Amino acid sequence: MCGIVAYIGKKLAQPILIEGLKRLEYRGYDSAGVALLGGGSIRIKKTSGRISALEDVLDEPNAAETFGIGHTRWATHGQPNTVNAHPHLDCTGKIAVVHNGIIENYGTLKTWLQNEGAHFASQTDTEVIANLIGYFYAKADSPEEPMNSEPQTKFEWAVQRALQELSGTFGLAIVCSDFPDILIGAKKGSPLILGVGDNEFIMASDASAIIEHTAQAIYLADNEMVTVTPDGFHTKTIENITISKELRQIEFSLEQIELGTFPHHMLKEIFEQPKALATCMGGRIDPQNNRIKLGGIDSYLRDLTRTKRLILTACGTAFHAGLVGEFLFEHLARIPAETEYASEFRYRNPIIEDGTLVIAISQSGETLDTLSAVEEAKERGATVLGIVNVVGSSIARATDAGVYLHAGPEIGVASTKAFTTQVAVLTMLAIELGRRRHIRSDQAGKYIEELSQIPDKISQILSQSDHIKQIASENMDQENWLFLGRGFNYPVALEGALKLKEISYIHAEGLPAAEMKHGPIALIVDGMPAVFIATAGPQYDKIMGNIAEVRARGGKTIVVATEGDENIKQHADHLITVPFTPEILQPMLTVVPLQLLAYHAAVLRGHDVDKPRNLAKSVTVE
Ligand code: AGP
Ligand code: GLU
Repeated sequence: MCGIVAYIGKKLAQPILIEGLKRLEYRGYDSAGVALLGGGSIRIKKTSGRISALEDVLDEPNAAETFGIGHTRWATHGQPNTVNAHPHLDCTGKIAVVHNGIIENYGTLKTWLQNEGAHFASQTDTEVIANLIGYFYAKADSPEEPMNSEPQTKFEWAVQRALQELSGTFGLAIVCSDFPDILIGAKKGSPLILGVGDNEFIMASDASAIIEHTAQAIYLADNEMVTVTPDGFHTKTIENITISKELRQIEFSLEQIELGTFPHHMLKEIFEQPKALATCMGGRIDPQNNRIKLGGIDSYLRDLTRTKRLILTACGTAFHAGLVGEFLFEHLARIPAETEYASEFRYRNPIIEDGTLVIAISQSGETLDTLSAVEEAKERGATVLGIVNVVGSSIARATDAGVYLHAGPEIGVASTKAFTTQVAVLTMLAIELGRRRHIRSDQAGKYIEELSQIPDKISQILSQSDHIKQIASENMDQENWLFLGRGFNYPVALEGALKLKEISYIHAEGLPAAEMKHGPIALIVDGMPAVFIATAGPQYDKIMGNIAEVRARGGKTIVVATEGDENIKQHADHLITVPFTPEILQPMLTVVPLQLLAYHAAVLRGHDVDKPRNLAKSVTVE
């Protein structure tokens, strides 16, 4: 996902834009640029590559330039090169635009604009937006295009008319050299937030670029726009209907998004898990009364208790958390459940009957596939709940109700504390529904008591980080790994494989351990690492057999087992132990060694752990 930062106020805009773009680097990008106003025209600097490459080409800021827009691009239309980098100008050079998202009808519009005399420098869909605004701007004085009755500048009118022609998604910051004190933002499908400071405003696609300036912000919803001047702002729909937006407090602090003493955000977030889980469960589990309280869905709990079928939908790591949830709801609440990749669910003509509940899981709350799955489920009549981390995000707002993770901002592209807190929320919900349906209260109490101990147990695992680093160093040259687990730990095997793939670029496959004999065992060669989750549980003996099958063929076994298991030592080439906990709670523990294994392997292989190649923190394109 890319990023937008815009500033209008009394300070020099250029350094503020650059610092804001650096706060958004974690989202993933391939080029960057800024446009500055204040010197009478629009001064643009942009380049492919990192923000440091942009800094190398920047001019000294002009004291009059207290207004500008900036962008980090994650290319969808046109190569990641300087010409295609944002900002984009219309062909008169008066309108400059930075854009997050995809314009689906850009081809038709581009042809039409070219027939109207417009010319294009880039291959992007974004340049079509700039020229479309420029087209209407030039027409604004003509009688053919009467302006709305509502008071507005011709700049605002031209923006509205252009946006009404677009299909697809956009987060936009737009400026016009004829109006050097007006910043326009607009949103549909890609997030856009306006930070409200003291006589200054900073607009961005993510609160982490705003928080060091102000904690007060407004969150635009789809088809809304904001017009900002140094003295204030007003909000409208893109149909020019005035709306009021509540000022909200940004939930996290600057300190939470900074690295502190950690070398990478990912390691910081792995080590934050005890605290993130304690915060996530705080005020929600009540061991004294064997109760769970999830305020965000209180009004739905009676309906949920009568749920006939559950569909969990998500992408990537969130999908793996959903798979754990599927097992939890079936085991504890005896509700038939299935987990669907959001990208598949939305196109598969899904069956939604009465009594079907859909749960969408997303850390960012902006994953377009998941957001589209939510819309699809709602259209088919389902009640849709969200389990989301980012407050006020698109998915949080699109669902009927939901539960926030309260995990704090997750900056590392590889999701870690979001996974464990997503599983914690799913566990709490499954225990509560189970208790309402047929689990005895004292049994629910036992699970709640065990759940309350998970944060401390994760802390114990984290103390093995150096030991896990050693295991990574002995195996990091192997280019193919297997991750194997059974029951509640099968989704953890999938998650461990994804972690290793996405940051160390080692190929890895996660499997139910028993599936190995149905093909993948053919892959085993001398020295090939096979990571087994072989913790105490009903399938322990079976997984011992799978470990033996791998070792008999020369595979290297890296085993995650329960503390005190003496038997496992003779079967493990490398052993990592986790404290005992009931099988249904193990995923929150067994995933931690796999997170650390992937992290250390990636660092030892010299990769950029927080910004892995080709990846974005949140995928807001299809
Ligand atoms: C996980 O480490 C990846 N970054 C990716 O699979 C991620 O989980 C997926 O894109 C879903 O993101 P979301 O939770 O923000 O919706
Ligand atoms: N679709 C636009 C482009 O390819 C914007 C991509 C983005 O969201 O960065 O330039």
